[in-house]
Amino acid sequence: MRNLKLALIVIALAVIGFIGFAKYRDGQARVDHGAAEGPLALTGTVVERGRYLAAAADCIACHTVPGGGEYAGGVAFRLPFGTLYSSNLTADPETGLGGWTDDEFVDAVRAGMARGGRHLYPAHPYSTYAGMARNDVLAIKAYLASLPAVKNTVPVNELSFPYSQRALLPLWNALYLPPVGFKADPGRDESWNRGAYLANALGHCGECHTPRNAAYALKAGHALSGAVTRGWKAYDITPTGLAGWTAEALEAYLATGHAPNHGIAAGPMKAVVAFDTGQLTVEDRRTLAHYLLGDAPRAAAVSVQGAADPASVGANLYAGACAGCHALDAHGGGVDSARLAGASSVRDPAGTNVLRLLVDGSSHGGETALAMPVFARGYSDAERAALANYVLAQWGGLTPKLTSNDAKAAVLP
Ligand code: HEC
Ligand code: HEC
Ligand code: HEC
Repeated sequence: MRNLKLALIVIALAVIGFIGFAKYRDGQARVDHGAAEGPLALTGTVVERGRYLAAAADCIACHTVPGGGEYAGGVAFRLPFGTLYSSNLTADPETGLGGWTDDEFVDAVRAGMARGGRHLYPAHPYSTYAGMARNDVLAIKAYLASLPAVKNTVPVNELSFPYSQRALLPLWNALYLPPVGFKADPGRDESWNRGAYLANALGHCGECHTPRNAAYALKAGHALSGAVTRGWKAYDITPTGLAGWTAEALEAYLATGHAPNHGIAAGPMKAVVAFDTGQLTVEDRRTLAHYLLGDAPRAAAVSVQGAADPASVGANLYAGACAGCHALDAHGGGVDSARLAGASSVRDPAGTNVLRLLVDGSSHGGETALAMPVFARGYSDAERAALANYVLAQWGGLTPKLTSNDAKAAVLP
C-alpha cells in the first residue's frame, strides 16, 4: 500500500514536472523578448547606472552577510521547508559569477534559470525582476564585475523533500512566473509609470507587502495589500492602506525611515530604507510616492481617541517603563520618532509590530541616537501583552485583546 502510494506520487510528480517543463520551454522563448530599455532614463557610465539599479533592486540585502564580503552571498533564508543560502555574486571564477555570459546572468536574474540550466528558488525574487529591462540587468552585471572578487563557498541548502527537488521548479514557473519586461500603463503619466517600475520591477516591495499563497507565490489581485514577513507586519501600502499619508510624508519615510505622525521603519523595512529607497534620487522617490499614493492621495479616516483603562496593568507598566522616553501622553518627549500617537504600529489591531518592537527594540538610525530598548527578558509574555493592549487602546483607539500567547509568538527562535 505504501509502495503504491509512493509510486503514484512519483508518477504524479513526473507528469507535473513534464507539463511544467513544456510550459517552461514556452516561457523560455519569451525570456529575451523583454524590452531592452526600461522607463528609468539614467545618465553616467554603465557601471554607475548598475550601482544605482542594484541599490534600487536591493540586491545587496540578500547577497551580503553583515560583516561579510560585499555580494559574497551566504545569507540564510529560513523557510517553512528548510534553509536556503544566497549565491556569491562577485567575479570569483570558482565560487562566484566569473565567466558568466550576459544571457546566463539575465536568465538567472529575470527567469530563475542559472548557468547550466539550474533552476533557482523563488527566494531570489525573479518573478519580480522579470519586469526589469535587459539593459538594466546588464548594467548591474557590469557593476558587480567592477567590485573585488571574493572567494566564498556558500553553505549547501538544507531543504526537506520534495522542496529539495529543483526539477519541480519549472512547474512553479509555469504557474506563477509573469511575462518578462515592464508594461507601462498608457492611461498614466511618465512619473507614475517610472514609480511603478521602481516599486514592482526593481524594488520588489511586493515580496514583503503582498500576501503569499501556499506555494509561496504572491497572491494575484492582492498586490501590496499587506502581509506578515519574518514575524513583522508589512502594512497595506495600496492607496487605501496609505490613506492619510501626504506625498511629502511618504517621501520622508522612504528617505529617512521615519515620518512624523506615521512612525518608524523598523524590522525588515529598516534595510529597505538604508540600501534601497534611501539611496534613490529625490526625483525617483517622488515618482515612487506618486505611484503608491495614486494621482490623488486619500484623506485619513476619523482621528483616533484613546480610551484605555488608566488603572490597568498595562497603564501602570507604561508609566514605569515607557513614559520616561515616550512621555505619559506619548508625544515622545522631544524625540519625534518616539511619538506614538498616529503611528501605524499602534493602529494595527493585531499589534504585530508593537509586540515585535518589545522583543527586538529598534533604532532606525534617524535624527537622534535614542533607541527603543529590548524588553523581551525583563517582562513576561503577559506583561508584554498588557503593554501592547494599552498602547493600542490609548493611541490607536482600538479595543485589542492580545494574549500571552500572542506575545510569546512574537519571540522568534
Ligand atoms: C530577497 C532576497 C534576494 C534578493 C533581493 C536578490 N537575490 Fe539573488 N538570490 C537569492 C537567493 C536565495 C539565491 C539562491 C537561490 C537558489 O539557490 O536557488 C539567489 C541567486 C542569485 C543568482 C544565481 C547565482 C548562481 O550561482 O546560481 C544570481 C545571478 C542572483 N541571485 C542575482 C541577483 C541580483 C543581480 C539581484 C538584484 C537585482 C538579486 N540577486 C537580488 C536571493 C535574493
Ligand atoms: C524585506 C521586507 C520589505 C520590503 C522588501 C519592503 N518593505 Fe516596506 N515594510 C516592511 C515592514 C516589516 C514594514 C513595517 C515597519 C515598521 O512597522 O516598523 C514596512 C513598512 C512600510 C511602510 C510604512 C507603512 C505604514 O503604514 O506605516 C511603507 C510606506 C513601506 N513599507 C513602503 C515600502 C516600499 C515602497 C517598498 C519597496 C521599495 C518596501 N516597502 C519594501 C517590509 C518590507
Ligand atoms: C530608552 C527610551 C525608550 C524606552 C524606555 C521605551 N521606548 Fe519605545 N521607542 C523609543 C524610541 C527612540 C523609538 C523610535 C525607535 C526608532 O527610531 O527606531 C521607540 C519606538 C517605539 C514604538 C514604535 C513607534 C512607531 O513609530 O511605530 C513603540 C510601539 C514603542 N516604542 C513602545 C514602547 C513601550 C510599550 C515601551 C515600554 C515598555 C517603550 N517603548 C519604552 C524609545 C524608548
